[in-house]
Amino acid sequence: MTVQSKNSRESSENYSADEFGYYGEYGGRYAPEVLIPALEELENVFIEAKSDASFLSDLESAQKNYIGRPTPLTFLENLSSKLGGAKIYLKNEGLAHTGAHKINHCVGQILLAKRMGKKRIIAETGAGQHGLATASVCARFGMDCHVYMGARDADRQRPNVFWMETLGAQVIPVEHGGKRLKDAVNAAIKDWITNVRDSHYLLGSCLGPHPFPEINRYFQEVVGREIRQQTQTHEGKSPDYIIACVGGGSNAIGAFSEFLAEESVGLIGVEAGGEGEELGSHAARFQGGRIGVVEGYKSYWLQNSDGQIADTSSISAGLDYAGIGPLHALLHDKKRVRYTSATDIEVLEAVKTLAQTEGILSALESAHALVEAIKLAPTLDKSKVIVVNLSGRGEKDLFILGRHLSSDSFREFVARYADELKEL
Ligand SMILES: Cc1ncc(COP(=O)(O)O)c(C=O)c1O
Repeated sequence: MTVQSKNSRESSENYSADEFGYYGEYGGRYAPEVLIPALEELENVFIEAKSDASFLSDLESAQKNYIGRPTPLTFLENLSSKLGGAKIYLKNEGLAHTGAHKINHCVGQILLAKRMGKKRIIAETGAGQHGLATASVCARFGMDCHVYMGARDADRQRPNVFWMETLGAQVIPVEHGGKRLKDAVNAAIKDWITNVRDSHYLLGSCLGPHPFPEINRYFQEVVGREIRQQTQTHEGKSPDYIIACVGGGSNAIGAFSEFLAEESVGLIGVEAGGEGEELGSHAARFQGGRIGVVEGYKSYWLQNSDGQIADTSSISAGLDYAGIGPLHALLHDKKRVRYTSATDIEVLEAVKTLAQTEGILSALESAHALVEAIKLAPTLDKSKVIVVNLSGRGEKDLFILGRHLSSDSFREFVARYADELKEL
């Protein structure tokens, strides 16, 4: 392990990482020796690219013409009037190409990989949205794509596995540990150690060893800039609150970053409350998580009494993760962001409510943020504005929702279709 540090690790006002990748005491680059040259190369290329006009022009063009940015900010008129308080808007990242915010950092990182001359891409995925976005950019840029996915997640997000394979990616189910995101990250890191020379690890959230949290933050910040502009157009002011779900933390950082220095904007992160408060039944790192160094960075981790990483549980694969990006750890300690959680049952109810009042299908992950907006709005004056970052759309959750929400006829259809497939 190589640990870089310096005496003063205070972040500046906008909470950027210091030169060693620390946000306050969190983050850092706790990586095996063999990966340090690759992490340094990535950091140097990233620094160069940010001031290269041709890179920025390629990025802007891909954001506009491939991702479909800007994504809309939609006023939820029916829901707001039903709740009778603040106005609720949705920043609809579900309408970005591939259906979630993950494409923002995938496009950015694939441009960096191209700049480094890499031809092989490794990624991990939980809900499959990061894997799907990675598989898509790999196809477009002619790169060989290997996606690790916990076997449990591969099962519950089967539609995304199908799409990744259709896009030409190799999806590798990880059968050890809890068979979830944490295990996929470990497998991806092992692959990177073996193939570091020709491979780029296209890491999927604002976490991991420095410089990944800063890189993904940079490519996700476009979301917050658009929120500022669009709220100004609709309401003539900044939002009063921005709410986002928090798995590893990338969609929330993307939405919050622009407003961190504007203290009048309340920022709320929503973790997975799962089935209950007992350790193992949720993935709310700020409800019982302890500081630890795992997977290359220092942050809050859910751990058992021996300090082993605890099992987690959430209806949403994308939030079902024991660690949390290091900037969130600092924002939590500094109380700049308020963190709360939503349970699986509340999330299913919120998916149904949004679908039936506004005609919008939310991903299970994003519906955690909606739960909080539905609780908060009636407590606020009508002049207040809440923006919910809808990190993804709901189609990927068909089979989970089919189990929890559907009529018998849908289940009968799936069973009949499965029988037909067996006979093919
Ligand atoms: C739709 C969606 N939202 C949120 C997340 C959580 O990731 P993050 O916290 O990095 O935004 C995921 C992860 O897979 C996702 O697919």
